[in-house]
Amino acid sequence: MSDELIIRDLRVAVEGKEILKGIDLTIGRGQVHAIMGPNGSGKSTLANTLAGHPKYVVTQGDILYKGTSLLEWTPDERARRGLFLAFQYPMAIPGVTVANFLRTALNAKRRANGNGKAISIPEFRKLMTEKMQLLKLEPAFATRYLNDGFSGGEKKRVEILQMAMLNPEFAILDETDSGLDIDALRIVSEGVNALAGTNLGILLITHYQRILNYIHPQFVHVLVNGKFAVSGGPELALQLEEKGYDWVKGNGE
Ligand SMILES: Nc1ncnc2c1ncn2[C@@H]1O[C@H](COP(=O)(O)OP(=O)(O)OP(=O)(O)O)[C@@H](O)[C@H]1O
Ligand SMILES: [Mg+2]
Repeated sequence: MSDELIIRDLRVAVEGKEILKGIDLTIGRGQVHAIMGPNGSGKSTLANTLAGHPKYVVTQGDILYKGTSLLEWTPDERARRGLFLAFQYPMAIPGVTVANFLRTALNAKRRANGNGKAISIPEFRKLMTEKMQLLKLEPAFATRYLNDGFSGGEKKRVEILQMAMLNPEFAILDETDSGLDIDALRIVSEGVNALAGTNLGILLITHYQRILNYIHPQFVHVLVNGKFAVSGGPELALQLEEKGYDWVKGNGE
């Protein structure tokens, strides 16, 4: 059984308009892939399609997850089976602490995977302490109410902590629309770096070239007008920094 996330000749339409025009991408466990590209090129459309958003209609191709098509799975099923989608991000829930929220999320995943027993409190605390240390989070953070007055950077921290706790096999992080400042960008980067190499496959969508000063993906893909115009290694990001997207747009036609 193939232990990869394989996107094969994927075409996606939104409200009758074709946005993705044939995407091929294979992400192995432990690999970090970055997708960059100009505004409106289809990056978030790809993320939303992977998440199973009903508005995004796959008109051709497939997405294979460990050898099986995931197209028929609900967003919830995708998450339970090991995909982590960063934008499925909870609203502020006053009265629910970060720790409680994470324990509930973790137990839901365990139940869904046939492990009916809830995690014991000591076991949960140990796991959370370990992950918080990995992400360099202050212990006091766990007892704050979820997203209640959190800064943008703090929200990002919870998201990355959630990812670390749920221990997904693949994570799709669409950082484009979330108004990341340089601080939040650094937090996401540190989280990704800490978790990369733990057998987690990461698809990082960004139009900030800056993020690649912090994260070093093995693969960089540039999406232009619904297709990859060029794919390469980390050096591609540097070339983009220097030459801008016009350079790859020329490449893609
Ligand atoms: N839900 C939707 N309804 C209508 N049009 C949509 C929807 N989602 C995406 N589109 C259209 O698809 C195209 C690609 O949008 P998408 O959000 O995927 O781009 P992007 O590469 O993520 O851009 P950005 O860098 O600005 O985040 C745009 O023309 C957009 O208007
Ligand atoms: Mg986007």
